[in-house]
Amino acid sequence: MTILVGQPPLGPQVEDKKFPLGQNELVLDGGFEAPDINSFGNSFRDYNAESERRKTVEEFYRVNHINQTFDYVKKMREEYGKLNKTEMSIWECCELLNEVVDDSDPDLDEPQIEHLLQTAEAIRKDYPNEDWLHLTALIHDLGKVLLLPSFGQLPQWAVVGDTFPLGCAFDESIVHHKYFKDSPDFNNPAYNTKNGVYEQGCGLENVVMSWGHDDYMYLVAKENGTTLPSSALFIIRYHSFYPLHRAGAYKHLMNEEDKENLKWLHVFNKYDLYSKSKVRVDVEKVKPYYLSLIEKYFPATLKW
Ligand SMILES: [Fe+2]
Ligand SMILES: [Fe+2]
Repeated sequence: MTILVGQPPLGPQVEDKKFPLGQNELVLDGGFEAPDINSFGNSFRDYNAESERRKTVEEFYRVNHINQTFDYVKKMREEYGKLNKTEMSIWECCELLNEVVDDSDPDLDEPQIEHLLQTAEAIRKDYPNEDWLHLTALIHDLGKVLLLPSFGQLPQWAVVGDTFPLGCAFDESIVHHKYFKDSPDFNNPAYNTKNGVYEQGCGLENVVMSWGHDDYMYLVAKENGTTLPSSALFIIRYHSFYPLHRAGAYKHLMNEEDKENLKWLHVFNKYDLYSKSKVRVDVEKVKPYYLSLIEKYFPATLKW
């Protein structure tokens, strides 16, 4: 079954950054910059289409920046923290994500599970002993099920894109920062200073992040009692926090554990890309390995 998500044509193109690397066409999850290369590895010749796409991305962040407020995130964390949407295993969720099709993505002729497995397998090759990292790669985007009707069918701006803290000043490094001037938080004196409602070094776990698939999957993993290490939860929760891991912003809110975990996030980010080359992963062949990891780190059934 294929579920076409009735959303504006954004999805992976908003949060994915396409760029060439060798012969392969790679898509880096979480970025926002418009690509120089199209999905077939050719330079864009259609400049109108490209400028249209830029406008679409910019509009995405305009709406995102106005709506992702401190109060909104509090409400969403409370609502989704109930974990009363469904019950299923991690693997079942991988298969469910497979059914989310963004018809704006020209590359989606392969099931999404293959892209997740490609990332996981690439890490496994270079870090064979870090089995927790293989599993983290497989599951880090499962929160995108928020786009599905049974999960509330949230709009794209509430699921994907770069994330950032609420409750303190918006750092200039956040993409399309100018649109924050229309956010109710922007002029709120409680929220618009460098530390805002936080204390220096308080630790990112105490910081309210904009709502999306990162924070949701973190909640699911944590509340279901995963035994994954804190570095895995950190990766899941902050993999779209580009102002931190690309621009180095908000480090004043980190504690010592965050600093250690950030090293792993940097490792992960190098692999958080889907090779859209013709390298195929044989799902059935690698499935037993990933099922064994799921069994090691998660209960058989999770609340979502
Ligand atoms: Fe990703
Ligand atoms: Fe992601």
